[in-house]
Amino acid sequence: MVDHSDDAPASSPLRIVAIDGPAGSGKSTVGRALADRLGLEYLDTGAMYRGVTFAVLRAGLDPADAPAVATLAREVELSLEGGILTVDGVDATADIRGPEVTRAVSAVAANPAVRELMVQRQRDWARSRGGGVLEGRDIGTVVFPDAALKVYLTASPEVRARRRTAEVPDLDFQTVAADIARRDALDQGREASPLTQAGDALLVDTSDLSVDEIVTDLASRLDRGRHRPAHPMAADLARGGDAGRHGNPWAATPGEMWLYRVVRGALVGFARVWFRVRASGLENVPATGAYIVAPVHRSNLDFMLVLILTRRRLRFLAKDTLWKGFWGRLFTALGGIPVARGSADREALRTCIEVLEAGEPVVMFPEGTRQHGPVVQPLFDGPAYVQSRTGVDIVPVGIGGSETAMPKGSKVIKPRPIRLVVGRPLPAVPTQGSKARRAAVRARTAELHEVVQDLFDRAQEQAGTPNRPA
Ligand code: DC
Repeated sequence: MVDHSDDAPASSPLRIVAIDGPAGSGKSTVGRALADRLGLEYLDTGAMYRGVTFAVLRAGLDPADAPAVATLAREVELSLEGGILTVDGVDATADIRGPEVTRAVSAVAANPAVRELMVQRQRDWARSRGGGVLEGRDIGTVVFPDAALKVYLTASPEVRARRRTAEVPDLDFQTVAADIARRDALDQGREASPLTQAGDALLVDTSDLSVDEIVTDLASRLDRGRHRPAHPMAADLARGGDAGRHGNPWAATPGEMWLYRVVRGALVGFARVWFRVRASGLENVPATGAYIVAPVHRSNLDFMLVLILTRRRLRFLAKDTLWKGFWGRLFTALGGIPVARGSADREALRTCIEVLEAGEPVVMFPEGTRQHGPVVQPLFDGPAYVQSRTGVDIVPVGIGGSETAMPKGSKVIKPRPIRLVVGRPLPAVPTQGSKARRAAVRARTAELHEVVQDLFDRAQEQAGTPNRPA
């Protein structure tokens, strides 16, 4: 057993999952479910700060009286067992969620002496258990910067306020929304360990994902040791103030997401009826984080067909000449990214990198443009290059039957069967130096070519339009 000195953060032997994020982002629900799935214990560190606040109010102290609060925090006895919090032997489980504690907790949590004590207790808690799932505001940045998995959860302010309103039935939506906004400002603006996304934390927007999707994805990342740090820029973006995109300029606003859902629903619904489209291997599509979707490209229908892969908004590159007035807004809402000169230029690749770094999945057709026939044409290096720059997975996809349903030049969409086959994600290969990277990019492109051909063959076969006659 490694001996950690008392104030040093613990490192590798502990199995720690750090979940941070603002109020209502889904930390407790995700944290508890993930802990269950992993067989680890779960610690709600916010409840500890609330417990101290409860003691402060009970003692009649002013929460802003830093020395008095620090003295009390040193002496208070907190115990959190099976979701029951006792403070100096008194059950405070219900009271710590009440409006008095909620109003005062930010002042107590901003007290550096209180934080130091709580951080120490949190480290002790995890060490005595060999690890655990801890949720709070500073777990990945301060308490366990070496955590095996660091996640930063967000959700739109509306979704967060709605969740909290449902939890506390006596409060109305407006009051809750105002309180969340106030606490966000205090938590992010305080001097001691402000709420920020660790540069290497995985950014997950929980607004449109189910708990099960998130937990399955996170558990598999931890199991496969495939927790890849987001680019530090993701953290900068998360701190930026772009309203409606909650800090991420590439994220969808609620209005865009609504439009996307409506249009996606209509297109996927049409495809299911008209082409009886089916997809296999959907478990290979990551539920969270950024990745590159790399499909074979035989028809204009392919844009619509890949929408079946995920309910999250997929981003596409398209010529900027299409962006005119209403159409421009529609394309943007639908995930289109305007680029100057088609899909292979430098600017397009840079845009893809930015979008991926902000945590959004991107579709890149590796054959460049629409091709014809059973053979996957030479691939351009774009996806592998972008992967080498961002470290995201490439998810290869075969689409079978789309050329028969609507070949190039055709204006008719025939009701022919279409099948998608999703292959295992190709993880990034770490390299050092530009020469090694170039070689790795070429090797990855060659590998992707083989994989996509195989998936294309399988999809064509399943669609009843085999590439190789039996
Ligand atoms: O997650 P919560 O709403 O129960 O947290 C209560 C308060 O405690 C919140 O305003 C921020 C603070 N907190 C903190 O500063 N650091 C943590 N690790 C957890 C919570």
